[in-house]
Amino acid sequence: MKSFSWIPFFMSHSLSTILAFLLITCVISQSWDQEFNDQNLLTYSFSENVTCAENEYPPLSSDRVPTYIINLDLPPKLRWSHLMADKKESGKLFPLVDKYLPLVAETLPEPYLSELKGIAEISGIELGEITLYNIFYEVFTLCTSVISQGADGKIYHGRNLDFGLFLGWDVKNHTWLTTEALRPLVVELDFQRGGQTVYKSVNFAGYIGVLTGMKPQRFTLTLDERFSMEGGFVGIIRWLLGDRSSNWAGFLMRDVLEKADSYHQALSTLTTSKLLAPVYFILAGNATDQGVIITRGRIEADVLSMGRGSVSQVSTWFLVETNYDHWNQPPFFDDRRTPAIQCLDKMGRETASLSGIFNVLSTKPVFNKLTTYTCLMDVSTGQFESWIRVCPEPSCDTIDISAGQQRSIDVTDDALLEISRRLYSMDVNGAYDQLELNLQSKTSSGSRVDKAPLPLFKNGVPKDVLSRPTYAKLLALFDNYLASVNETELVTPQEKAEETAFLDAVFGTSVVKATHQFLVSKGLAESSVERFKEQLKNIWFGLYQRAPGKQGSSGFEHVFLEEAKGDLNYLGYTRVLSLGKGPVGLIELPMKYQGVFKPHSTLMIGSSPELEIALYSICFLARPDTLCPISGQINNGKSTQYKIQTFVSKFHGRQFVGSAFPTF
Ligand SMILES: *[C@@H]1O[C@H](CO)[C@@H](O)[C@H](O)[C@H]1NC(C)=O
Ligand SMILES: *[C@@H]1O[C@H](CO)[C@@H](O)[C@H](O)[C@H]1NC(C)=O
Ligand SMILES: *[C@@H]1O[C@H](CO)[C@@H](O)[C@H](O)[C@H]1NC(C)=O
Ligand SMILES: *[C@@H]1O[C@H](CO)[C@@H](O)[C@H](O)[C@H]1NC(C)=O
Repeated sequence: MKSFSWIPFFMSHSLSTILAFLLITCVISQSWDQEFNDQNLLTYSFSENVTCAENEYPPLSSDRVPTYIINLDLPPKLRWSHLMADKKESGKLFPLVDKYLPLVAETLPEPYLSELKGIAEISGIELGEITLYNIFYEVFTLCTSVISQGADGKIYHGRNLDFGLFLGWDVKNHTWLTTEALRPLVVELDFQRGGQTVYKSVNFAGYIGVLTGMKPQRFTLTLDERFSMEGGFVGIIRWLLGDRSSNWAGFLMRDVLEKADSYHQALSTLTTSKLLAPVYFILAGNATDQGVIITRGRIEADVLSMGRGSVSQVSTWFLVETNYDHWNQPPFFDDRRTPAIQCLDKMGRETASLSGIFNVLSTKPVFNKLTTYTCLMDVSTGQFESWIRVCPEPSCDTIDISAGQQRSIDVTDDALLEISRRLYSMDVNGAYDQLELNLQSKTSSGSRVDKAPLPLFKNGVPKDVLSRPTYAKLLALFDNYLASVNETELVTPQEKAEETAFLDAVFGTSVVKATHQFLVSKGLAESSVERFKEQLKNIWFGLYQRAPGKQGSSGFEHVFLEEAKGDLNYLGYTRVLSLGKGPVGLIELPMKYQGVFKPHSTLMIGSSPELEIALYSICFLARPDTLCPISGQINNGKSTQYKIQTFVSKFHGRQFVGSAFPTF
């Protein structure tokens, strides 16, 4: 993949994977699974007993980030020359992407376009690559920002920048943008005019926006990514489609540092400018209580001021922002906020200082394997220092084990067989008796010949089956999804509501209640129903909510809707596995899906949506990335064993169902 179309490309995979698995079971080919499986991002899971780091400051002087002067009096094209000449490891700097990104570059506002062109020339990096590199930071970083105020009212501001980018760009080799590759590129920049510092920042060489910056005596400013339900890509796609009314957050940060002369001016610009993507701005001033977290949508803004306290943090002398809205709990699988707050509380206001903040930012998992630098800022003295960070192995590793893998040791094969047998027996919404199958001819794996001209379901799927709550809500979700594919705004509040309605319906079934009990007993889910619902929502819908996938919808339509209506383009079967009496339970077949031929897929026939979600979720949590034994039994027939394979998709340090399918 060498074009900007990577976004829909990548998303369509995840999207269609996730959607397709809601009803139909296995549509995803080995190669895709491989792709999901291959990702080497890390995940955090919150350890409840935080050990606050102590005496970490100062780190080794060799970890101090070098400083470069950026002379704003030079023409934009020349400003970055000396830095890029120094860092000219162009072979190392991401040898990818070329053709389409220059077109995007041309759309960027001045002086940024000229600066990028200058960088491209001096470094020998394609303009497309350098543009991509600049755009990525808008959406692919994880961070923690802390503002604290000492007993004397003096404000300190610190941040960790965790670089969590992974995208399935080059399927064969997707280690191209690693934290390791970036660390040598971290530089401090001193932006000067007339030989005087106007502002400072810490950047990756080649990136010309600002994510962390300070205007001495005036204000300090950091940007954290916000994974918003609005979808971080929507604004960027709008930009590409020609809507230039919004700002790139990193460039806006730089504009503010350049032009705003006071904390209040900065606050005003940061709350009112239109943005391409949702973000958090963390802004602190030079006077007591001047500190805010600005939670931004593309248009709207929420401002949490220091001193006020909020649901998530009671103490009034500091503010912590990671990547979640302050009015919500962070998800349990990525809670860096709670440990940071605990350690700040432990430190106490009296000892608030840059070294104290450094300790907090050195506490795992606030400090983690993706952390590339820590920056400390004291606006009143102009002290600005950043440090390269490498979370030491193996102690960092222990944080990175996913919740499931860590605790699944307890879940025996017998326990999995028993719970799955029970769930099958509870599956009153299953359509096992109501489907009349017409298997027709046997075919061979990989055969494209249609050996079965008639539909698989002789009489389609009966209306009364489709009108059962979990089926109906699922269909509604999809209808809605399909209806919105022509719009730019891809995840509407209505869709979110449909999603919730579907989960509510599923949670009303005894199948999912029993699943919850089982997972709680194995330490794989929290006992609160709401938290469990949130957990399932995250693993099943997390990526979908951010996804602009037009292709995905057609893939879904092709597979899911047609399947639901009973007229899937069925080419014949290769094997069947009967689960007791009645129609077969699993059918293995070749299938054409989303224009891609899958030589080998497996369908679960007649199982309700809730049963499929339940079985996949159990396997995903108890036996991630491997085979999970299942005992299927329909209509009191003989129980038959098969296996479910799940693959974990990791994205932004979070875990999602990449794929899940039965196999026998
Ligand atoms: C947390 O750690 C402290 C001391 O390190 C220990 O006494 C306590 O039992 C731990 N609590 C839990 C829940 O593990
Ligand atoms: C793929 O990545 C490895 C490092 O993981 C590197 O050594 C190799 O050269 C890369 N291959 C290509 C074709 O870029
Ligand atoms: C910033 O704060 C310091 C110390 O609190 C103070 O001495 C200085 O005058 C302030 N600067 C401005 C521009 O207000
Ligand atoms: C999307 O647009 C196409 C043509 O522009 C139209 O034919 C189609 O019906 C639209 N689909 C929906 C779901 O609105």
